[in-house]
Amino acid sequence: MRVTMIGAGYVGLVSGACFSEFGVHVTCVDMDEDKIKRLKGGEIPIFEPGLDQLVASNMEAGRLSFTTALDTAVAEADAVFIAVGTPSRRGDGHADLSYVYAAAAEIARALDGYTVIVTKSTVPVGTGDEVANIISKTRPDAEFDVVSNPEFLREGSAIGDFMRPDRVVIGTTSERAREVMQALYRPLYLIETPILFTERRTAELIKYAANSFLAVKITFINEIADLCEKAGADVQDVARGMGLDGRIGSKFLHAGPGYGGSCFPKDTLALVRTAEQYGAPVHIVDTVVGINDARKRAMAGRVIEACGGSVKGKSVAVLGLTFKPNTDDMRDAPSLDIVPALQAAGAAVRAFDPEGMDEARKLLDGVEWCDDAYQTMDGADAVVIITEWNQFRLLDLERAKSLLKRPVMVDLRNIYKAEDMALAGFRYYSIGRPPSEES
Ligand code: NAD
Ligand code: UGA
Repeated sequence: MRVTMIGAGYVGLVSGACFSEFGVHVTCVDMDEDKIKRLKGGEIPIFEPGLDQLVASNMEAGRLSFTTALDTAVAEADAVFIAVGTPSRRGDGHADLSYVYAAAAEIARALDGYTVIVTKSTVPVGTGDEVANIISKTRPDAEFDVVSNPEFLREGSAIGDFMRPDRVVIGTTSERAREVMQALYRPLYLIETPILFTERRTAELIKYAANSFLAVKITFINEIADLCEKAGADVQDVARGMGLDGRIGSKFLHAGPGYGGSCFPKDTLALVRTAEQYGAPVHIVDTVVGINDARKRAMAGRVIEACGGSVKGKSVAVLGLTFKPNTDDMRDAPSLDIVPALQAAGAAVRAFDPEGMDEARKLLDGVEWCDDAYQTMDGADAVVIITEWNQFRLLDLERAKSLLKRPVMVDLRNIYKAEDMALAGFRYYSIGRPPSEES
């Protein structure tokens, strides 16, 4: 079995490496020459735990290779996966499908013999039909099926998510394509992963419905957190009390600064637009998009409040910039709203992130970049934790206190306990829990 992966980004590279680990011969194609050059040289262009070893061992075993030459890679493949980006289209929020359609046309020109073309990119319902049209029009002689196989992995735990998924969704009604997909995912059958075969349009919609539901769940607990603050309750206990109900589940009930990342923000918006187009609006998701955007913008206000109502002329230490830990991805990260808002309010921002600094430097101006958490806090009037990297969970609080001008911490991820912070002498503000004064 030979697989070609078009797009060697977060999803293409991880999926390609994991399929090669299953024993499949995989060629990853990317139009970004620099990315391919680095990959060929054994360098991983993104930060994803475990990916470097997985890529290295499968390259060594001769099952994983990288190229910019799409034609040859497609001609040799039994299945070609489209794993290119589908960002928000500027101006209207629809998914920008130009990369998917361009890839489809390129694939069509190179097809040789029956091939399954699999859309792994997150695409609106009906995109598979258009991909099939493009291929038929470009190559009326081509023998192919187009399958939807949405990906549910998370950045930071991508390999585990791919190797041991909750489920695999495969959208096709072609028996021939189904056999190819079954063969590819055979290792997951062996560990009894549910494999859900559906019609193609249904598979496409499952992906948006799942991401949007999770975004709604997070937004729900975020609003409950705001209520907890006013009502004197503790959102973490509320989340625990809710999550123990098997019908609700405890996952994705962590209150925070609002969801970010390369997927929830763009996918919720795209679902809203698709639903409008079909005349079946998803009001709940539309509302969530607005609430989450406003929440991210409002987070700087919490820091300003913690600093006594103004940060003018003050120095704020920011720990964590990526949209979540264990990734270098800065796409739609809450920090991109919070840092500029603090600067606009007159603060000087010092910041550190374990893996996201290279990306952050391109996106944030006027920040003093630091080498670690303690250097960041040195001389600052307050520290704000935006991303819950493990190394921020067990800071030496004595040392932190001695470095800070004032012992003020705003913890937007609730990684500390209010009682511990009070004992350590901090004025501590978190999400959905009463603030604590230094004792
Ligand atoms: P990405 O931007 O990291 O990678 C996309 C890659 O595709 C880039 O390297 C780009 O150069 C390449 N590319 C674009 N057009 C090409 C072409 N015609 N030929 C060859 N290469 C081409 O994107 P990503 O984060 O991997 O996301 C890809 C898709 O997967 C999106 O639809 C996304 O919504 C979906 N998805 C992402 C995640 C995630 O965690 N990032 C998870 C599930 C699904
Ligand atoms: C998300 C989904 O979890 C994946 O299943 C999906 O494949 C992926 O989007 C996608 O379609 O690309 P990811 O964006 O990598 O994965 O990260 P998540 O762990 O889902 O976190 C997204 C955002 O929500 C982060 O900003 C995170 O901090 C926030 N979040 C998550 C919360 O604020 N609270 C929670 O309880 C969980």
